[in-house]
Amino acid sequence: MLTRSSAPVSRCETIGRRNLNVCCAWTKAASKAEVAGKGGRLVVELKGQRVLLADAGDGNIYAVSNKCSHLGLPLVGKTALLQGKVVDKCIVCPAHNTAYDLATGQVKGKWCPTLPEALSEGFGLTPKKPLPTFASRVTEAGEIEVDI
Ligand code: FES
Repeated sequence: MLTRSSAPVSRCETIGRRNLNVCCAWTKAASKAEVAGKGGRLVVELKGQRVLLADAGDGNIYAVSNKCSHLGLPLVGKTALLQGKVVDKCIVCPAHNTAYDLATGQVKGKWCPTLPEALSEGFGLTPKKPLPTFASRVTEAGEIEVDI
């Protein structure tokens, strides 16, 4: 939907010679307190997608897909084994330790460092790919909204 808007948006596009904003679909996801109450990592379902809200300790709450780009396992799941950790503004997959930058989704360091190379990148079976990210913001009331 194209609308004129003076409200801040995370991404805008200029269409033709007019400055029309392609507005975001800000969706309320959770409160900052809820994320803090879950140790800085909270998974929510937004529009059919499982989204991980992660506090990187830099004042921002990041929103990324909760599905690892390697095998699709949850970065933060329901079991104690599937609890990815936030390290240096990255979410680290609990399965094979791939670290994804929370801001960009890019892989930081080695792809699947705990797997033998032949099983990670070898043979092109599971090529290195980034994690989907979503713009997020925190309202004055402490509510986290995600552009999804
Ligand atoms: S499933 Fe996440 S790195 Fe392999």
